[in-house]
Amino acid sequence: MKVLGIESSCDETAASVVCDAIEPSKRTLSNVINSQINVHAQYGGVVPEFAARCHVDVIDKVINEALSIAKCKIEDIDIVAATACPGLIGGLLVGTVCAKTICAITGKPYMAINHLEGHLLTCRLCYDVEFPFLLLLTSGGHFFFAEVLGVGKYEILGKTLDDAAGECFDKVAKMLGFGYPGGQVIQRHAENGDPGRFKFPIPLQRRPGCDVSFSGIKTAVKLQIETLTNLNDQDKCDISSSFQQTVVKFIINQLAKAFKMCRANPLSVVVAGGVAANLALRKELLSFASKHHLQFYAPPLHLCSDNAAMIAWTAIERHKAGFPVSPLDSKTAPRCSLSEI
Ligand code: KG4
Ligand code: ZN
Repeated sequence: MKVLGIESSCDETAASVVCDAIEPSKRTLSNVINSQINVHAQYGGVVPEFAARCHVDVIDKVINEALSIAKCKIEDIDIVAATACPGLIGGLLVGTVCAKTICAITGKPYMAINHLEGHLLTCRLCYDVEFPFLLLLTSGGHFFFAEVLGVGKYEILGKTLDDAAGECFDKVAKMLGFGYPGGQVIQRHAENGDPGRFKFPIPLQRRPGCDVSFSGIKTAVKLQIETLTNLNDQDKCDISSSFQQTVVKFIINQLAKAFKMCRANPLSVVVAGGVAANLALRKELLSFASKHHLQFYAPPLHLCSDNAAMIAWTAIERHKAGFPVSPLDSKTAPRCSLSEI
């Protein structure tokens, strides 16, 4: 089967055709992403109204390009899937109305997809990852640990009490004058910095459970920056490095607690979301997994951030697991949790 996926929940307009080939490397037939980063960079973050308008401007071109790269016509598509929650409502409406319209005209079935489930299942698009696995989902807007028992069977073990990790990277990048988005720039500066120069506190060490909080680290970085007069390039690299190391250590500490909370025996550790592109984090996750005799899977870098291949793939997974397609009047919502699936 072939699915056309559409993603427009934040600042990427994306469309992709994915099929259910047995060989993971043969599944993604096209994966087109039109990023709006240049539009939002000057404002230091995503401006929802501009994002929605940019999606409207390009969505038809992006879909046509995805079909053409996949050498398909709309008649060859079995299901049209779109991100229906969570995200910025203007963008979500552009994607879902577009998908529903295609379905209304062609009679193809529509499937509403949860963006977080898309990130969560990305590794299964790319590799033969078996259930159950221990998941770390870390993006610009979300952070949680979950035990993934099967498609649609997600036990949330812990989540953020305030910011998401990506948000924290972005805010620290802004404090250092790096612009938006900040994750990659912090990582690049961290490579030339001394991770031991500044000591930032690791939060929630004595708190039971595996929830996380990043606002304390963010404030500690802010206070440190305020003590440095004439912040030079080396200071910025050292702050980036010390900050990144603290975040990674904290995540690994909490992951260890999440692992102990699992009721099934996870076979692997899987990471997903934009922050999964962070190489320091990937290195420590791999080391954690090896220490506990688990496999470790991370999506290829281009599938860590928002894309439509993960949305199309989730539709295939849900269809194969026996979940129904969605009615054309099914809702599009800015907020919804995985537990609603
Ligand atoms: O998953 P994503 O593309 O969008 C959401 O659904 O939120 O994640 C974007 C987030 C941004 O906060 C960005 O700064 C962060 O992922 N990010 C990184 C890296 N690359 C992207 N954070 C740390 N290190 C990176 N290399
Ligand atoms: Zn995302």
